[in-house]
Amino acid sequence: MKIAHFSRWGFLMAAAGSAVGLGNIWKFPYIAGEYGGGAFVLVYIMTVAFVGFTVMIAEMLIGYLGRLDNVGSFESLAPRNKEKWKFAGFMGLSGTLVMFYYSVVIGWIFYYIGLSFDTLPATIPEAELIYNTMLTHGLWTQVFYHTIAFMITTAVLMRGIKGGIEKFSLILMPGLILIIAGMLIYAMNLDSFSRAVEYMFVPDWSKLTSEAFAVAVGHAFFTLSLGMGAIMIYSASLPKESNIVRAALFVISMDTLIALSAGLVLFTFLFQYGAQPAKGPGLVFISLPAVFHAMGAAGNVLSVLFFVALAFAGLTSAVSLVEPMVQYLIDRWKMTRAKAAISMGLFFYFFGLMAIFSELESTSQLLTWGGRNFFDWSDYITSNILLPVGGLLMAIFVGHVMEKERVASVLRTHMGWFYPVWYFNVRYVAPVALVFVMLNLMGVIVF
Ligand code: TRP
Repeated sequence: MKIAHFSRWGFLMAAAGSAVGLGNIWKFPYIAGEYGGGAFVLVYIMTVAFVGFTVMIAEMLIGYLGRLDNVGSFESLAPRNKEKWKFAGFMGLSGTLVMFYYSVVIGWIFYYIGLSFDTLPATIPEAELIYNTMLTHGLWTQVFYHTIAFMITTAVLMRGIKGGIEKFSLILMPGLILIIAGMLIYAMNLDSFSRAVEYMFVPDWSKLTSEAFAVAVGHAFFTLSLGMGAIMIYSASLPKESNIVRAALFVISMDTLIALSAGLVLFTFLFQYGAQPAKGPGLVFISLPAVFHAMGAAGNVLSVLFFVALAFAGLTSAVSLVEPMVQYLIDRWKMTRAKAAISMGLFFYFFGLMAIFSELESTSQLLTWGGRNFFDWSDYITSNILLPVGGLLMAIFVGHVMEKERVASVLRTHMGWFYPVWYFNVRYVAPVALVFVMLNLMGVIVF
């Protein structure tokens, strides 16, 4: 049972902190770049607005009404088949598996904060060398920084919702917003800003392949932290009088604004200093450091700020990925919070080490199956399977299983005329969209 509640801002910052993560600043710009900019961004925004918003309200509602750990919330709200619906709650515990690689990437970011104080790589090949050396040979570097990410995450989780997650988010989120806003203003004053705007907002429909479409939809769910019970577990600590519709709007607006700002900042810098947007995950770790070098001393300052912002974004998401499991262990296994947080911390810490080994040149062979190493598999299974299945179950649960009146009683007053539209979306549009993404990402259908 939960005792401590979030304050109003505490919840908004924690939920926005969960949503705004590596997905926004690290992943969004490079996939937008990879899939051709404007058209991709448009599909992404439409999905966030129509499907993401719908599912976020469903997920918040389950937590808000259930008020237990995720398994308990499903169980208590299911009018029948309680035993079966319990399993939907277990799906929601899979966020910890995201941490297998997420914590490692946060570690890389810490390493790059350190590098930013030094001479930055002058050319892309030089930057590539630094990144690849860290990845394929930097065992101790990665273990060291992964350990720090693990320690911070666990320490915050040990302090609980009120003293840990809320406090942490109330400091880090405003910091992150300030840094990104500052960088956006800086970028607006550079000549290439208009080119970045054009790149991100003028759609070139020929680039919108079915794969790009599915990736955009899939990313919309990932970036909003949907389907894995993170938003659900936070909502279980909402004060009773909260307006979840307004909260969802806030979280979604923040998430989208930060992703778009990060994209604009990055592409402005890249165009201004003549660097090609790197393909893939290397964008912020390869192209960007070389660009910062070209800016001279200001570049070092910007580099520190940028990676600090990225670390803040990552850490507030990390705690939300593990909190569902921690609360589950507290409620169901009667563990103390400290014990639950440490067990889960050690759990992802250990598999994080596997993710590190799976990228190292000397051990990658042992940890690669079917063309993907352990690192890639943890991303693939969580983003492409568990997350859409989790979202699907939540939409079906709220749309078809929970008593109609129960759902309406909370949402109708807050939504007014929009309520029937939302209810239709959660019953039909969201499930169809989620099945589509899943099949497409798994390569079952390609149109
Ligand atoms: N939304 C975060 C990001 O954009 C990642 C994340 C945090 C997440 N919690 C989640 C994704 C829960 C899915 C489910 O980086």
